[in-house]
Amino acid sequence: MKRSGDVDELVEAARAARANAHAPYSRFGVGAAVLAGDRVFVGVNVENASYPLSVCAERNAVAAAVAAGEREFLAVAVVADDEEPTPPCGGCRQVLHEFGPGMLVVSENERGKRNEWTLADLFPDAFERPLP
Ligand code: THU
Repeated sequence: MKRSGDVDELVEAARAARANAHAPYSRFGVGAAVLAGDRVFVGVNVENASYPLSVCAERNAVAAAVAAGEREFLAVAVVADDEEPTPPCGGCRQVLHEFGPGMLVVSENERGKRNEWTLADLFPDAFERPLP
């Protein structure tokens, strides 16, 4: 992380985004924010009546960053309202790994409890393929 305040700003971006989560089925709204270079991109979980089509907040934040031309992420923040800070699901860990195997993962619940990990801690021995 470049500056000490970066993590706090990233968490607040994820928290603000969470207000726009579309989670009428699970009622578990999630906000995420990724830091790529100097830019922050947010995402929320977007659920669907056909439940498996729902997409997590982290993957939607990744999609926004990639669509804007970013490919290397420094950190991701997640905010949800659970007893413990919510870590990214397994599928999101694989997707995050694609764009920053060494990234910082920080998660905070709505009571301000925070956990931090490296993605390598959460997702060791990742599946990878060489670029052709
Ligand atoms: N969800 C996320 O968006 N991110 C996570 O890290 C965990 C789970 C979403 C998926 C679904 O819309 C809802 O939370 C309940 O699982």
